[in-house]
Amino acid sequence: MNITVIGTGYVGLVVGACLAETGNPVVCADVDQDKIEGLKRNVLPIYEPGLDDYVARNQSQGRLGFTTDIAAAIGSADVVFIAVGTPPDEDGSADLRHVLAVAEQIGTHMRRELVIVTKSTVPVGTAAKVAAAVSKHATLPFHMCSNPEFLKEGAAIDDFMKPDRVVIGVDNDHARSVMAELYAPFVRTGKPIIFMDIPSAEMTKYAANAMLATRISFMNEIANLCERVGADVDNVRKGIGSDGRIGPAFLFPGPGYGGSCFPKDVKALVRTAKECGVPLRVLDSVEEANDAQKHRLFEKLGEVVGDLSGKRIAVWGLAFKPNTDDMREAASLVLIESLLGAGATVVAHDPVAMHETQRRIGDRITYAETSYEALAGADALAVVTDWNEYRHPDFARIKSALKAPVIVDGRNLYDTQKMRALGFTYSSIGRGGKA
Ligand SMILES: NC(=O)c1ccc[n+]([C@@H]2O[C@H](COP(=O)([O-])OP(=O)(O)OC[C@H]3O[C@@H](n4cnc5c(N)ncnc54)[C@H](O)[C@@H]3O)[C@@H](O)[C@H]2O)c1
Repeated sequence: MNITVIGTGYVGLVVGACLAETGNPVVCADVDQDKIEGLKRNVLPIYEPGLDDYVARNQSQGRLGFTTDIAAAIGSADVVFIAVGTPPDEDGSADLRHVLAVAEQIGTHMRRELVIVTKSTVPVGTAAKVAAAVSKHATLPFHMCSNPEFLKEGAAIDDFMKPDRVVIGVDNDHARSVMAELYAPFVRTGKPIIFMDIPSAEMTKYAANAMLATRISFMNEIANLCERVGADVDNVRKGIGSDGRIGPAFLFPGPGYGGSCFPKDVKALVRTAKECGVPLRVLDSVEEANDAQKHRLFEKLGEVVGDLSGKRIAVWGLAFKPNTDDMREAASLVLIESLLGAGATVVAHDPVAMHETQRRIGDRITYAETSYEALAGADALAVVTDWNEYRHPDFARIKSALKAPVIVDGRNLYDTQKMRALGFTYSSIGRGGKA
């Protein structure tokens, strides 16, 4: 089966590389010429652990190719995955411009019977819109399929190669058998392929992200309350996470969720609900709580440092989470804007996301080569992303580098008692106030 993946971002590149890894001939197509030229030389546009090896190996073995010739890529395909971006429109709805533009191209350039798979996260009803756009030009039969992607940036290869489940929305047997064959190598350990109707598959993706975002906002608000009542959210988290009905995942409080998915998918689902006249009150609050949480680190810095004007603040971690350089909706950006707005200066470190941050906000902040270099002469350290290298730092070195021994920890990486004993003013999330 010849596979074409259109859109070579986080999702398209992982999908293409992993499908090539199981022996399929795959072409990844994108309109971004620089990205494609780089990929042809095995230069990846993103940081994703392990992906470079997959790309290089499959490209050198002739199973994986990259092109900007989208017409030719469609013409050679038996299965086309649409993996272009679906950014939020001004009203919060998913912007389907790229998806529908690709659909028209598919209809124009398809040369054989096709299975068309929407991999992008798209609202219910999009597969029908894609089918309509393809039909405007198509002279051959095609079959729609919705196959939402659940990979996590930072662990994307593992998530794709060993998924918890694969969700596939189909409305005919041909598409079903093609997709079952394609995914068979990834579910050999018995993990399910869950076939369903197309609208349910489209909805499943939004419901999954909305549920995860809800857990995060819920715990962030519980953490804020813990601070006021003198409880420790880490204990509370363990106490509830060990309940089989609740489970331990996605209960860590922090500086608010970010990334390319949760913020935009929650917004899009809320928008869909509004259009349908169905209240999603819980999700309205999830978003509101998250927006507020993104200001918590700034508020905490104000509490422990006082007036931030003229102060120098070191920031550890810029990416929205560890093991990625994705800065979309990162909590660090909200903190940095607030600090700069208050007249502070910022010196930041991140193991991989400094280049991407600089691309976005330029030299309004200083970038430090190492985590310790960021500390020199700073009035406080704010920990924003829980990269492994920040977990066990040399506290004596931190203390001697900082102008004042002040740490605001947005990820609860350090032990409160130990930090006090070491003489730090240490403020974290949900652990009995500013301590
Ligand atoms: N990033 C994630 O973790 C993740 C996880 C699951 C689902 N998704 C969903 O997958 C989709 C893609 O996300 P992403 O993070 O990979 O996006 P991305 O922005 O990293 O990549 C999108 C790519 O599509 C290309 N593109 C845009 N229009 C095109 C066109 N007309 N023809 C060819 N290429 C075109 C862009 O140049 C870009 O390279 C989104 O709908 C997203 O919600 C993302």
